Amino acid sequence: MNNIYKNPMQPYISQKAHKISGDVFAPGDKSISHRSLLLSSMAIGKSSIQGLLESEDVLHLVEALRMLGVHIHKNTSQQTYEVQGVGLYGFREPSFPLDMGNSGTACRLLMGALSTLDIKSFFTGDASLSSRPMKRILQPLSEMGVRFVAREEGKLPLVIVGTSDALPISYELPVPSAQVKSAILLAALRAYGRSDVIETFGIRDHTENMLSYMGVEVTRKTLPNGRYQISLQGPAELSACDLSVAGDPSSAAFLTAAALLVPGSSLIIRNICFNPTRIGFYQIVEKMGANIEILNETTICNERVVDIHVSHSPLKAVNVTEDIAPTMIDEFPILAVLASQAEGASHMAGLAELRVKESNRFQAIIDGLRKCGVEVEENKDAFTIFGQPKDIRCQETITTHGDHRIAMSFLVMGLCAPQGVCVDDISSIQTSFPNFMALMKQVGADIKVK
Ligand code: S3P
Repeated sequence: MNNIYKNPMQPYISQKAHKISGDVFAPGDKSISHRSLLLSSMAIGKSSIQGLLESEDVLHLVEALRMLGVHIHKNTSQQTYEVQGVGLYGFREPSFPLDMGNSGTACRLLMGALSTLDIKSFFTGDASLSSRPMKRILQPLSEMGVRFVAREEGKLPLVIVGTSDALPISYELPVPSAQVKSAILLAALRAYGRSDVIETFGIRDHTENMLSYMGVEVTRKTLPNGRYQISLQGPAELSACDLSVAGDPSSAAFLTAAALLVPGSSLIIRNICFNPTRIGFYQIVEKMGANIEILNETTICNERVVDIHVSHSPLKAVNVTEDIAPTMIDEFPILAVLASQAEGASHMAGLAELRVKESNRFQAIIDGLRKCGVEVEENKDAFTIFGQPKDIRCQETITTHGDHRIAMSFLVMGLCAPQGVCVDDISSIQTSFPNFMALMKQVGADIKVK
């Protein structure tokens, strides 16, 4: 979708591989990279960020923060980004629209962060982002006193008319979205009084972890009915600090899957964020029979970090239930590829949110698998994939819809397909995993222009 603004699309083919091996680092986590830039911009004083993911999504946030008056400098000798925070009230009204590119996380978190200041901010994005739902953010912010003007259904482009007099809020998330939770928490930093966000399933908690690391008291309480309540007391100032971004478990999932699928493979992936709210994929593939060893566990900036050693493993079918879906929401495309290579029928539920990602991933997964000859049955927000190991026949080019995770998933599928798998374009991969092609080549994949 976003490719209409880019160079002409260029199909790539991924060929059957002999073995995937090596000792590599996962690229920086996208969620933590966004939060480290945003929170250090809102702190008083200079922070440094080590391991920032330099992908298109994250660089869009860097540009937006610069337009808000934040000095962000890349220190090439130290390999860090230095951020001169402007404090809770220091963002200046941007003179131009903030272009968030393809990034839902940058856009939604920044809307929250700017909404409780007396400034107006115009948000735009690419074709994909402009089709994604923003009402989920605008609704709770309105309850805090924020106003906005948006296109029908609350889509971009839109303008947030911030308030310097925000009310605290108690809000139960209607969708399991960490972006919505985070936007509310960031807005609540300036609201006088206690704000609560209530979630049903455990969704990623990097915002809470980093706020605590920067000196804000954030509490998490289990409610009697099994839900969780996350609370903070505003106004709450953040202290500048040195941050380190661990590797992205969602990006590492593609490398993990490649090693699992190709016979004879053995791969070490280092420095992966293994936050319990992000490891559903790893837990599920272990259930499928994946041979994964967890090594060198440590904690960095309130986040659990590990190295993993993954070896080729014959896989069996698995059942993914709705409660675990949020802990692996970005990993369904690559899990679906693994399920197509597992023995038996895999059932995956709780997939409604997949329809509103960078593309309609629910449909893109089904269409892509069917093009590869895999039988898939869909039923409301669930699908069943009938695994047929070693029998992939990709007759047609896979349509990625400008979605990075669809592109990477089907390129990984090609590694075990006798005639390879062809995808229509790979430029979207720049949004989250700029060195994907180089890293895949390094570990033994053969992916080239068709
Ligand atoms: C993210 C939250 C998830 C995820 C996205 C990153 C975040 O989106 O899909 O890639 O950093 O908070 P939702 O909050 O919409 O589920």
